[in-house]
Amino acid sequence: QIDMKTRLIGSNLIYYPSIDSTNNEAKKEAAAGAPEGTVIIADEQTGGRGRLGRQWVSPKGTGIWMSIILKPELEPAEAAKITQLTAASVATALRNVTGCEAGIKWPNDIIINKKKVCGILTEMSAELNSVNHIIVGMGINVNVDPEEFPEEVRSIATSVKESVGHEIYRKEIVLEILRIFEDLYLDFIRRKSIDKSVGICRKYSVTLGNQVRIISKDKVVYAEAVDLTEDGELLIRNEAGEIEKIISGEVSVRGV
Ligand code: BTN
Repeated sequence: QIDMKTRLIGSNLIYYPSIDSTNNEAKKEAAAGAPEGTVIIADEQTGGRGRLGRQWVSPKGTGIWMSIILKPELEPAEAAKITQLTAASVATALRNVTGCEAGIKWPNDIIINKKKVCGILTEMSAELNSVNHIIVGMGINVNVDPEEFPEEVRSIATSVKESVGHEIYRKEIVLEILRIFEDLYLDFIRRKSIDKSVGICRKYSVTLGNQVRIISKDKVVYAEAVDLTEDGELLIRNEAGEIEKIISGEVSVRGV
């Protein structure tokens, strides 16, 4: 049982010992009318999903596999702002609770010691010009042991435990994430600006100042990541020296 300190995010919290995917479950709940701020959390996922159709390994008892249902009045193109807000929340919470130096790899990975500790999967249901709901899912490797990662990601994945050297109580991290998320989300709704989240993403960015390889539609572009816009989009300097705005797409960062 969790003693909530928030009034919107997590005030309706649904826990599963095991489920296919908290994002799938959140989608069903949202369609069935679950209120904004509903949180779905599982101790294990049997069909955890990552971005780009990838699998997300979610072993029992060692991670935070969690999704939040949001119903903001947004245009579909703005959904990526929620990803930035989530990255800011997770990085800050991990730092506050464990003292680790969590960084943010734009747009949706949290990094410790150059390895991925958390991925974010934002999905939405939208009509032509407005969002019905957004599901933001986060998978955080908290007490996962390195050998539990699939062979092919072992060299690029890490856990909080691996970096701080001891197990961390997952509940403490969950509560801190929800607290910070609520703060940033309510501020975003009230002021219609995510500058607060973007400020955090900028401060903890491991992308800015580095060379990035941007892969979109079979095209690979090399560039320097220069800054984030106040909406959380990435500004790069391309090979011709011009500044370009990157809104989404798969971005992989070299040199981090
Ligand atoms: C990625 O980096 O590719 C995103 C990973 C997102 C994983 C989380 S775990 C909770 C939620 N439910 C899922 O099936 N996926 C997300």
